Amino acid sequence: MKCNAFSKDSLNFPDNFIWGTSTAGHQVEGGNEFSDWWAWEHEGLIEDGTVSGRAMDYWNRHEEDHALMAKLAYKGFRLGIEWARVEPQKDRFDCDVVEHYRRILQSLRKHGFKICLTLHHWVLPRWVAEQGDWLNPDTVDHFMRYAKFVINELGTFPDYWVTMNEPMVPAIMGNLLGKFPPQRRSIRAYRAVSRAYLRAHARTYHLIHKMHPLAPDGNPSRVGVAMAYPWIEPWNSPGPAGWYERFTASIARRVAFEGWDHTISTGKPHWIHGGPAIADIKNSYDYCGINYYTRVSLKYDQRRREQYWIDDTKAAPGIDVTQMGWQIYPEGLYRTIRSVWKLFGKPILITENGIADDTDRQRPRYIVEHLAQVHRAIREGIPILGYFHWSFIDNFEWREGFAKRFGLIAVQHDDPDLTRAPRRSAYLYSDIAQKNAVTRETVETYAPEAVATVFGD
Ligand code: FCB
Repeated sequence: MKCNAFSKDSLNFPDNFIWGTSTAGHQVEGGNEFSDWWAWEHEGLIEDGTVSGRAMDYWNRHEEDHALMAKLAYKGFRLGIEWARVEPQKDRFDCDVVEHYRRILQSLRKHGFKICLTLHHWVLPRWVAEQGDWLNPDTVDHFMRYAKFVINELGTFPDYWVTMNEPMVPAIMGNLLGKFPPQRRSIRAYRAVSRAYLRAHARTYHLIHKMHPLAPDGNPSRVGVAMAYPWIEPWNSPGPAGWYERFTASIARRVAFEGWDHTISTGKPHWIHGGPAIADIKNSYDYCGINYYTRVSLKYDQRRREQYWIDDTKAAPGIDVTQMGWQIYPEGLYRTIRSVWKLFGKPILITENGIADDTDRQRPRYIVEHLAQVHRAIREGIPILGYFHWSFIDNFEWREGFAKRFGLIAVQHDDPDLTRAPRRSAYLYSDIAQKNAVTRETVETYAPEAVATVFGD
């Protein structure tokens, strides 16, 4: 059968499409004790009262986890390196830690997985946080020393590099809304931190190309950012409230991603970030990483002063929401892919997409409906390299703690054995990866309620 073909009974994906899963160091490894998040968790600030602690103990159980992924026929894995582990104190680079990461990467290679490696996923060493985190003008240089060390030691492994994960999230949550460390509420801090992230990304992009111009397959290295793209819409209330919602939605889109995309695609800082030009940032993408989960509808609420009078948690009647309260809106993934492709014209990697669903009742449908939207974009000729489902395994979900379960593999964090129990969705995803297709038979088996939407019956 011709690749990418669409038949009444099967959505076929391109040859070599990467069926991967995604994680981040702090959320699964456990024991990231020299980090700012670890310190923050111990202030009792996590909603369900947990702390990351040993997390899923991936640090020690990686071999078992990789074997499970291989058994399930998954093809790729996205993981992160933790700066706080590699450089727990200023200028003290821990060689044992790097050797441990090397063994993890060797094991992934041994199993034949495509490796997507993230250098920074929000978490800082505590010593960096104590020196003013990204507001300290020296932090970008410190980050570059860490990045250089890791690229030098481990740079032969990644098939895809993610210089940083969703820098807009800590910029917004940690600096504008005060909900993540370091809990600032300052537009000035948001802008300064954003510019620091952008500078660090641009320099890391060029450093990787200089130090490792080729990927393991002999092609030029592929470097990008995993950007967060919520689909943001105004609620459209009647009267002045609707006007405020539309105004806020247009600003929110810029703050969340349009401003960032503008700066990277044109090389000129968007007004949302301000400041002088950022050296060598233009075109500093070889592919576009998309993290997509949800639609966010912004509704005016005069009680929500601390949220700039906006309630972003509402879903219209009839729209399903997840365990996080996030709207399920598969079409947003297609619309995001289209607009990112139009702007950058670069191949796309879905670096995250997934759902918190303890019972696994919604996940099968979520997966096949989002994949149908990916396939729709592929049919239109947009080059999409792969899809990394968030997440391989249940993990520590930042502010929410362990209560929110995103894993294809279930783990009870308080189970002394941390037993890995594949959910039904893990087998669904396995079936898709093996066939390189979403077939009618698969959807009928795992998510019969989605047959009509997936196959347009
Ligand atoms: C993304 C983060 C990831 C995870 C998912 C649910 O924004 O990159 O670490 O928390 O959300």
